[in-house]
Order: sequence, then C-alpha cells, then structure tokens
Amino acid sequence: MIYKIEKLYRIFILKLCIVFILSCKSNSINEISQIQSFPYKSYHLDDSGDILNTEIFSSDFQDSKDCAECHPNHYEEWNMSSHAHSSSSIFFQKRLADAVHEHEQSIERFCDQCHDPISVISEKDENNSLIHSGVTCDVCHTMTRKSSTTIALPHQIVTSQLFLNPGEGIKYGPLNSPNQNNYHESQFNPIYKQSESCLPCHDLKHEDLETEITFTEWSRIPGMSMSGAFPCQQCHMPEKEDGTHEHHFAGVDLSYELPPKEEPLYNKVLELLETAAQISFKSNIEEIADSIAWSNYINIPVRIESLNGHHLPSGTSFNRECWVSIEVRDSDANGELIYKNGILESTIELLNYYEKDLVLFTSFLITEEGDTTQDVLKASQIINHSLPGLNIKYTDYRFKINNQIKSLWIKAKLNFRPIKPFIFDELPLLKQNIPIYTIDEIEKTIHIIN
Ligand code: HEC
Ligand code: HEC
Ligand code: HEC
Ligand code: HEC
Ligand code: HEC
Repeated sequence: MIYKIEKLYRIFILKLCIVFILSCKSNSINEISQIQSFPYKSYHLDDSGDILNTEIFSSDFQDSKDCAECHPNHYEEWNMSSHAHSSSSIFFQKRLADAVHEHEQSIERFCDQCHDPISVISEKDENNSLIHSGVTCDVCHTMTRKSSTTIALPHQIVTSQLFLNPGEGIKYGPLNSPNQNNYHESQFNPIYKQSESCLPCHDLKHEDLETEITFTEWSRIPGMSMSGAFPCQQCHMPEKEDGTHEHHFAGVDLSYELPPKEEPLYNKVLELLETAAQISFKSNIEEIADSIAWSNYINIPVRIESLNGHHLPSGTSFNRECWVSIEVRDSDANGELIYKNGILESTIELLNYYEKDLVLFTSFLITEEGDTTQDVLKASQIINHSLPGLNIKYTDYRFKINNQIKSLWIKAKLNFRPIKPFIFDELPLLKQNIPIYTIDEIEKTIHIIN
C-alpha cells in the first residue's frame, strides 16, 4: 500500500514537472558558448577503426581505483555498475566472440567504441592496464563537449566521436564551485546535467535502422526533452541525501553470474523497474465495477500506463520482454481456474508469442532473409512493439463463465524479463539466473449478479 502511494506521488510529481518543463526555454546561449570553449584532444581513425593519428595516450586516463581514496562511494557504486564491466562481462565476451566469428576481427573496435572506448581512441602505452577497463570514471569525467548518435555503416567501423580532454589533471563535472583538492583541478561543465552526456553510446542506428535508440526515444517525448529538465540522470543517477549522485547506473541488467537476489544491483534494478509503469483494471472510459450482471462472456479491461523516460523496454529491446499475465479464478469453488493469459511456470520457460490476447512489449530484429536475429549488424528491419514513454496501452480479456459463479478473483501483473532465455542457450550457467521482475500487480474480486 505504502508503495502504491509512493508510486502515485511519483506520477503526480512527474506530470507536474512536465507541465512546468513545457513552459520553460532551452539551454541558454551562455551555456553553449561555455561548452564550445572547452578543449578536447583529437583522434582520427581509418575505415577499419585503426588509429591514423591521435593526441591521446592510454596513460592519460587514470585508473578508477585512484579515485576511491577521496570518492569512496562513487567508486564502490560505479564498480557494481555495468559501465565497470562493459568490456569484461561474460555476456559481452560471448557476444563479441560471436560477432568476430560472424563478421571479421575488426568488429571488435565497433563494439569497443562504446564498451571500451579508451582502447579505440588512444595510443597504447606499454604496461598500461587501463586498456580493457570499460566505461571508467575518466571516460565520463574528461568529457568536454556533446557528441551525436552512433551510426553503424558497412564501410566504416567506428563512427562515434568522443570529445575528451584527458591527461591534463582536470576533472569536468556538475559542481559549480567544488572544494579544492591537491589531486586534480575541477571544472564545472553544464553537460553533466544533460542527457547529451550519455551520447553517443546510448543511441545506435544501423544505417537508417533505429536499433538501440534510448536517447532518441527520450528526445521524442516533448515534456522530457524540451528543456532537458528531465534528463537520464534524474532517473538513473538520483540525488542522494548528501547531495551527491548515485553511480550504480542501475538499468535492467545483472551479471547473471549469481542467483538474482545475491547480485549487488538486484534491489536497485527492482526499484527502478517498479517506477516504469502502472497497471489497472480500467478501460479508456471507466474502472471495472465491483459487481456486474451475469452474462455468457465477461470482459476484463486492463490499462498499462508508462511512467518511463523512453520506450519500455529500450536499448537492446530485442533482448528483453515485458508482458501482462492475468489469472481469473472462481472465488468460491476452491479457487478453480477460469481463465489465464501470459502465465509462465518457470523463469526460463519461453513465452508463447502466438498466445491469443497476449500483451507483449519487445522488439524483433529481422534479417534480409526474413529471419529474426539478435545481431544489430545483420538486421535490415526492426519490428518494434515496445511501449513508448508516457504512453498508455488498453486491452481487454474476454472469457466465458457459467451461471453458477457468484464471484471472480482476478490478478494481473506486468512482468519484465531482461533476457529472452534462448539468448543464453550457450551460457547455461547464466541462463538459470535470469530473473522475472514484477513491475506492478493488482488484484480484484468482482461479484456476479445472477
Ligand atoms: C585527493 C583527493 C581526491 C582524489 C584522489 C580524487 N578527487 Fe575528485 N574531487 C576531490 C574533491 C575534494 C572534490 C570536490 C568535491 C566537492 O566540492 O564536493 C572533487 C571533485 C571531483 C569532481 C567534480 C568536479 C566538478 O566541478 O563538478 C569530479 C568529476 C571528480 N572529482 C572526479 C575524480 C576522478 C575521476 C578521480 C580519479 C581519477 C578523482 N576525482 C580523484 C578530491 C579528490
Ligand atoms: C562511453 C560510452 C557510454 C557513456 C558515455 C554512457 N554509457 Fe551507459 N552504458 C554504456 C555501455 C556500453 C553499457 C552496457 C554495458 C554492458 O551491459 O555491457 C551501458 C549501460 C548503462 C546502463 C545499464 C543498462 C542496463 O540494462 O542495465 C545504464 C542505466 C546507463 N548505461 C546509463 C547511462 C547514463 C545515464 C549515462 C550518461 C550520464 C551513460 N550511461 C553514459 C556506455 C556508455
Ligand atoms: C523518467 C525516468 C527515466 C528517464 C528520464 C530515463 N530513464 Fe532509462 N529507465 C527508466 C526505467 C524505469 C527503466 C526500466 C524500464 C525499462 O526497461 O525501460 C529504464 C531502463 C533503462 C535502460 C535499460 C534498457 C531498457 O530495458 O530500457 C537504459 C540503458 C536506460 N534506461 C538508459 C537511459 C538513458 C540513456 C536515458 C536518457 C536519454 C534514460 N534512460 C532516461 C527510467 C528513466
Ligand atoms: C557514465 C558516465 C559517468 C561515469 C562512468 C562516472 N561518472 Fe561521475 N558523474 C557523472 C554525471 C553525469 C554526474 C552528474 C550527475 C548530476 O549532477 O545529475 C557525475 C557526478 C560526479 C561527481 C560530483 C558529485 C556528484 O555525485 O554529483 C563526482 C565527484 C563524480 N561524479 C565522480 C566519479 C567517480 C570517482 C567515478 C568513477 C568511480 C565516476 N564519477 C564515474 C557521470 C559519470
Ligand atoms: C553505440 C554504442 C554501442 C555499440 C557500438 C555496441 N554496444 Fe553493446 N551496448 C551498448 C549499450 C548502451 C548497452 C546497454 C543497453 C541496454 O541496456 O539496453 C549495450 C549492451 C550490450 C550487451 C548487454 C545486452 C543486454 O541485452 O543485456 C551486450 C552483450 C553487448 N552490448 C555487446 C555488444 C557487442 C558484441 C557489440 C559489437 C558487435 C556492441 N555491443 C556494440 C552500447 C553499444
């Protein structure tokens, strides 16, 4: 109950913010000229992603461990995040090996431009352990300017462009007047409060095909993006009591190397998912009544309202599933099952995509030959059935009842599975750890008047 009230409160605040945001203007001219005066080091790559020339050395980037002494919480949280493991996780290594096998060795640099950018843009110094260290503190905190969407092209491996100024002892960040320290200079940069600092990694197109476009989805929600006042950071880096911002970067993924509840990020992911959407027994006209007259067929209306800052699911949406499950029982006759939809017996059972009336939010990548694939680079089409941010989906479940039934007990759930189980067929140890989360659930008893 408390959780429900919190959720309603959140929706209220979200809507209030959006009304407020719609009445605001966008970034000031001052801010733009300030960003444009920040320096960055340039690099140039050839079509295979190999360095032609670069001003950046891998030793310009500091080990994230060096920050732990003075920023222990930031380090500890980041260290749990998928940014810290983006080039070392079992899942990434497996998909990378598959990609190299399917395409060519140089594909590694395509993946690394987002998963391990330091290794792509800098000259390797001998003995520098930083190569293969993921999205480190310095990848983000040496960023000086905004980038744009990354586009996968057949003739050019790396197209993302990062504007970084590493190796100068300056950390850029959101603090206007930070305390001095002997270790590094600090420089305020307004982009750290903006979604643009999550580009180009969180927006990927395959030529014109919108494959993993979280940033674009966010930017298409007028209230979220118009002044940028509801950026990614608001939900993914919430402010803590001490005024600093969370660095867990909770999304929907875990490492899958442990049972879900033993994973350090499990509770964070669950908390985030519980804010994603709300389910209710409503049609677009009214809420379902407490008692209804008997008839051969009963109609249960269900409404799913997104409270999300982008599609549900977003990013690698073709790997994820979000769906409604519903069961209806006779409240008397020992709770005899009358109707069900979308119910699974185990966390690794496949959903039946052909089940009539199944409400499913996901996407499918389709190859030129018309087959489904999980490989963005093989896709020539995407069928996107994800739920756009702040949108509402209505549905109806219709089933037969006999005239002996006095009351019905109904339970509906909005479920989320971060990985479609078949994706881990070759990683059985991870497969057994795939969780199914409940985003929201509701119950109701309806009296039938004969
Ligand atoms: C010797 C202590 C020390 C070390 C080591 C250290 N910092 Fe800091 N850092 C500080 C202090 C103090 C502040 C100011 C905090 C404040 O004012 O609240 C700060 C501020 C920052 C800021 C905010 C800058 C702004 O203007 O918004 C960032 C970003 C930052 N540090 C990143 C890092 C990173 C990345 C590392 C590791 C490579 C690191 N720091 C290592 C002490 C340190
Ligand atoms: C240099 C590239 C890069 C930048 C910049 C970046 N990210 Fe990421 N992010 C990644 C990669 C790569 C992953 C996926 C890691 C993995 O699972 O292998 C990721 C994962 C995430 C996840 C977890 C997704 C999940 O499903 O669990 C969240 C949340 C996230 N990033 C938020 C942000 C936010 C917010 C920003 C901006 C403040 C940001 N990222 C900036 C590359 C980046
Ligand atoms: C209003 C809050 C909100 C905002 C704003 C927001 N997110 Fe999310 N994000 C969520 C929620 C809730 C989830 C979990 C549900 C889901 O899967 O979409 C999520 C999930 C994700 C994921 C995991 C992939 C997935 O399944 O969706 C990534 C990556 C991510 N967000 C990145 C971003 C980035 C990048 C931005 C800014 C461009 C952003 N988010 C803005 C709330 C938000
Ligand atoms: C994916 C990008 C990203 C990574 C990786 C990252 N940060 Fe941040 N950091 C940010 C952003 C964005 C903010 C500003 C958040 C806001 O103000 O809403 C921030 C804020 C900060 C601040 C200012 C205080 C605060 O929390 O607002 C410090 C200090 C800091 N980060 C240190 C670190 C350290 C140390 C690491 C590594 C252990 C790290 N960051 C990793 C993006 C990142
Ligand atoms: C444009 C940047 C970008 C490129 C290029 C990229 N990724 Fe990612 N990758 C991401 C981001 C961001 C996420 C997190 C998205 C989310 O959680 O939805 C991610 C997630 C993943 C995941 C976890 C997926 C999941 O559904 O949990 C794997 C594995 C992965 N990437 C492998 C690869 C491989 C292999 C390549 C190269 C063939 C690659 N990526 C290329 C940015 C990128």
